[in-house]
Amino acid sequence: MGPYLYRTILTALLCLSLPSLSQAQSCPATPSPFPKAAAFSTQATLPDPFVYLDGKSRVTTQEEWYQCRQPEILRLLQEYQFGYYPDHSAETVTATRTSNTLSISVAAGGKTGTFSASINLPNGASAAAPSPVVIAIGGIDNNAYLRAGVAVVTFDYTKVAPDSNGKTGAFWSLYNGKDIGALTAWAWGFHRVLDALELRVPEINSTLVGVTGCSRLGKAALAAGLFDKRITLTMPMSSGIQGLGPYRYSLSGQGENLENSKQGAPWWTNSVLGTFVNQAQRLPFDAHTIAAAIAPRAIVMDQGQSDPFVDSKGTAVVTYPAAKLVYDWLGVGKQLALAIRSGGHCDNSGYTNVLPFVLQVLKSTPTTRDYTSLSPWTAMTTAYPWSSQSPPQAAAAREAPRKRYDTRRTSMKGN
Ligand SMILES: *[C@@H]1O[C@H](CO)[C@@H](O)[C@H](O)[C@H]1NC(C)=O
Repeated sequence: MGPYLYRTILTALLCLSLPSLSQAQSCPATPSPFPKAAAFSTQATLPDPFVYLDGKSRVTTQEEWYQCRQPEILRLLQEYQFGYYPDHSAETVTATRTSNTLSISVAAGGKTGTFSASINLPNGASAAAPSPVVIAIGGIDNNAYLRAGVAVVTFDYTKVAPDSNGKTGAFWSLYNGKDIGALTAWAWGFHRVLDALELRVPEINSTLVGVTGCSRLGKAALAAGLFDKRITLTMPMSSGIQGLGPYRYSLSGQGENLENSKQGAPWWTNSVLGTFVNQAQRLPFDAHTIAAAIAPRAIVMDQGQSDPFVDSKGTAVVTYPAAKLVYDWLGVGKQLALAIRSGGHCDNSGYTNVLPFVLQVLKSTPTTRDYTSLSPWTAMTTAYPWSSQSPPQAAAAREAPRKRYDTRRTSMKGN
């Protein structure tokens, strides 16, 4: 092997492992091992997303956000909620296509897991003019999407991992025994479907990809957006706690919270999240942190006004504006959409309600609809008191009026 080739390979390897290597150089160190729940102080409001897990270092530039803080968030979310996403580089994905059915096979560590997906193509999709795609679990309003020129690909999530403590399905065939939540397993299912689309479906443009599901499957869609940068648009519908519902606020009366979700469906997330039960205010993150970890990629949050169980209001007035501060600071505010509608949990109307935003992101079709409106609610600014000093730009904005004031005083003195 010549020195040039050797260097090329070395560079490629360094790039692949960039998050861990470069961080040792220039990023504030993430406490290792990760602190236990009891080590975090109780915090009633949303944690400042610009402050590192060490509790003192603060992000100062956009570049630093992407190189240091966002990778740290990704690691801490795996540690404290999702479990560690499998090493995809150790997996081999193969797929066969029969008409519009994909049979997907994933091999790793001498084991194999299989499941399948169904392809629904819009009229006119071809290898020469491939369509964007929304990968969905749990079923959506296919026709509205197909008519709009967006393919819909679905898969049976229970064949990836059951919604139970059971360890059947493709994911657990490979990873049984690991402390990983079903949300992560289902997210992995989305990604392996996308692998198969890349391999076998030239009528789909696999660089224009939405992921969706509702309720627990909305939590899974959020995880899918979080763990794979190929996802262009994350579309969690009525997602609730462990999705975009805030842990620290319950503004819709009786509803889902860390305690009852961990009791009713502990398998959704890892066991570490369970150590925060009855002390959710110690979590070093909240739902806004999950959304911020997806920036600059697009998210649209569906919320029904009559859906108290998943705290639609809390998602709209707490999670959304707090995450938006990060997106805005990164200069990508238009990528974070909120779609409030009438109606309740998982209404199919949610899918048509978000469609104009989906088309704007996936087909560059502009929409005039305002996807930043919190109406009929208003932002709960007390939930993110750090907005007055963080993000850094907000601090700069505070400086400006003070300067103007000083100038005026100076000129008044001169009078
Ligand atoms: C797929 O979409 C990307 C992004 O819009 C575009 O650049 C590319 O040309 C598309 N691929 C095909 C084969 O049309």
